[in-house]
Amino acid sequence: MNTRLAKRMTRLQASPIRDVLASASQPGMISFAGGLPASDTFPAIDIGCVEDEDLQYGPSEGEWLLRDRIAQDLRQRGFDVDASRVLVLSGSQQGIDLVAKLMIERGRQIAVESPTYLAALQVFKLFGATLVPFCIDSLEQAVGGSDNQQALSSDMLYVNPTFQNPSSRVYTASQRALLATACDSNQTMLFEDDPYRELFYQPCDRQPICSMLERAEWVYQSSFSKTLAPGLRLGYLVCSEALYPPLLKLKQAADLHSNRLSQRLVYRMLCDEPVHARLRDIQDSYRSRRDLFSEALNEHFGALASWQVPTGGLFFWLKLQGALSIDTRKLLQPAIEAGVAFMPGEPFFIDPDTAPGYIRLNFSHTRPDLYGHGLATLATLVRSATSESDEV
Ligand SMILES: Cc1ncc(COP(=O)(O)O)c(C=O)c1O
Repeated sequence: MNTRLAKRMTRLQASPIRDVLASASQPGMISFAGGLPASDTFPAIDIGCVEDEDLQYGPSEGEWLLRDRIAQDLRQRGFDVDASRVLVLSGSQQGIDLVAKLMIERGRQIAVESPTYLAALQVFKLFGATLVPFCIDSLEQAVGGSDNQQALSSDMLYVNPTFQNPSSRVYTASQRALLATACDSNQTMLFEDDPYRELFYQPCDRQPICSMLERAEWVYQSSFSKTLAPGLRLGYLVCSEALYPPLLKLKQAADLHSNRLSQRLVYRMLCDEPVHARLRDIQDSYRSRRDLFSEALNEHFGALASWQVPTGGLFFWLKLQGALSIDTRKLLQPAIEAGVAFMPGEPFFIDPDTAPGYIRLNFSHTRPDLYGHGLATLATLVRSATSESDEV
């Protein structure tokens, strides 16, 4: 390691997902790996005549019209905010980076669900966080108890309560209310990440927990990546009043502002398109993909793993049966050689070595007619890897 590099670089691990995606994009690969939307859900974009203004530097907060449109949606979700509290992001991944810069220095305690979104773990670790597990079930079981006390007294709690990446789990209404109360009474700062909220396939509660807070500080963010197109690189955050000025300064220092042309296009799509009809089409298409994937999983993994059929989001989260609970990272190379990419579960945990036997499978990107072949190939690898480990 070059000794001139900042010490924090020793804590930055290459995102395993990006490495996998590099292989997954090879021609002919069946990929269940990334959280990529289906390209047939992308809007037809006519860039048309580009105005000079869109090519000029713009405001760090984002374009006012877009912020105002986002604020309208946020009010419908229960937030009492206007456009002046909305910060447009270059993808919600940027929100994770900005909030980490705002809150984390070496040794700061940051609580996360375990498993959680692995690129959030990557950023929090880079800034030197000491990660503490948070579990909504134990909060529910031990109301007033100490199970999550360490998490609730952390400097920040990061959660993805609606169709979580990787587990697709969604908190119930009472779990949301319970967490809001716990954050308020412990003054725990809540960072809620909500990029999958519109991808629901059956009714369920989706009210942002941040919108229920009365005293605790908070940041809530979402994204246009999963409902419009990730290549536009646009997301947004909204936060409690005192956090907005420092987050805006961090945004200025990071990239001056987000791409103005993308902002123009997203604003136009939100206003011109029949947004609800578009979302319904995406939900219908993903629901039927989910059902086909579920059938193929039952056929090939029924005896190997257990899972919940997701009510929203883009992933199936499999737990291999006890005796098959191997380190799934070891399956990745052979799987890629066999033409199938998937995401091992271990990197989604605070301590990957303590959580073998999970696999995350994306069903939105690969064509449904390839599900069966891809899953059969993976199932064969799981069986042979476990029989090899039995022989040792
Ligand atoms: C939970 C979560 N947060 C944030 C992101 C980043 O999304 P984007 O930067 O495309 O908005 C993702 C991407 O998959 C995600 O799953």
